[in-house]
Amino acid sequence: MNTIQLQEDILGLKKENDVTILAHYYQPIEIQEIADYVGDSLGLSRTAKKKANNYIVFAGVDFMAETASIVNQDKHILIPNYESCCPMAAYLTPEMVREFRNKYPDLPVVVYVNSTAAVKAESDICCTSSNSIMIVEKISQEFNVSSVLFGPDANLADYTEQKSGIKCIKMPEEGHCYVHSQIRPEDIEIAKKKYSHTKLLVHPECIRAVRELADFVGSTAQMYNRVKNSSNDENKFLIGTEEGFRVRLTQDFQNKNFYSVKDKLICYNMKKHNLELIEYILKNLDDQAFEVKVPSDIAKKALIPINKMLNYS
Ligand code: 13P
Ligand code: SF4
Repeated sequence: MNTIQLQEDILGLKKENDVTILAHYYQPIEIQEIADYVGDSLGLSRTAKKKANNYIVFAGVDFMAETASIVNQDKHILIPNYESCCPMAAYLTPEMVREFRNKYPDLPVVVYVNSTAAVKAESDICCTSSNSIMIVEKISQEFNVSSVLFGPDANLADYTEQKSGIKCIKMPEEGHCYVHSQIRPEDIEIAKKKYSHTKLLVHPECIRAVRELADFVGSTAQMYNRVKNSSNDENKFLIGTEEGFRVRLTQDFQNKNFYSVKDKLICYNMKKHNLELIEYILKNLDDQAFEVKVPSDIAKKALIPINKMLNYS
């Protein structure tokens, strides 16, 4: 079956059944095209919470689907490929969070949603790349402190500290995303020479030296809105994030041009889903093999910091 036939088949099956498909901007474009909602981590968790459908097929990495499952414990959250994981989450374990807490007993623990459910369960509040500044401001006020513990992304911690003025103690020092941290200032220099008069948009998971060269730093949805609200003479953008997002922009804003800051900025973990797997799930909705299950004791604990973030956002 070709891509268009598969997409039509999926749309038909989706209509017949009580299903919503959610997709992240880094998904292959043919998956984004059949999704009911495409967004950043915050938008996806909000949408997952709002959706009335009994089944949610989640085309994103594990932590995103787990978050959807935690906020929707009475619904079936299905992930097309269980091997789609975010490697950044492995930098922080629940034991490490407990050790940091012992060392800094007065400080709140802020956990980036790119983390395991067990780590979220140990935290005071979660954050995403779109709300980390506001979240550390709120939680530090609540705890009446000027520092927070922040993990697992050391680059997001650094960005959040720079923007908020609140010290973000990294849990651990080396947590990072292999996609964003490979972008170097030299890549930007080369890309800017190749494509002149561009605006540079980058994700906060990039290193500081790259963020400081950018015209705009934000989550995928924030960068999308930056383009959407750009003036007519801003028509060339250099994109410092995963390739799927650049493809989406090219499709949605055909009067503008989008160039990647370097080749092969691909999150291979995000690309483990495909239309065939989604079609299979829709034909086998009760196949437990695809269901995302977070142990109920962990889900119960993790729901508190996730809801706290959603209530603040
Ligand atoms: P966003 O929340 O900005 O979409 O980021 C998620 C992510 O995994 C970035 O690498
Ligand atoms: Fe994780 Fe990086 Fe992939 Fe985002 S791009 S899901 S942080 S590995």
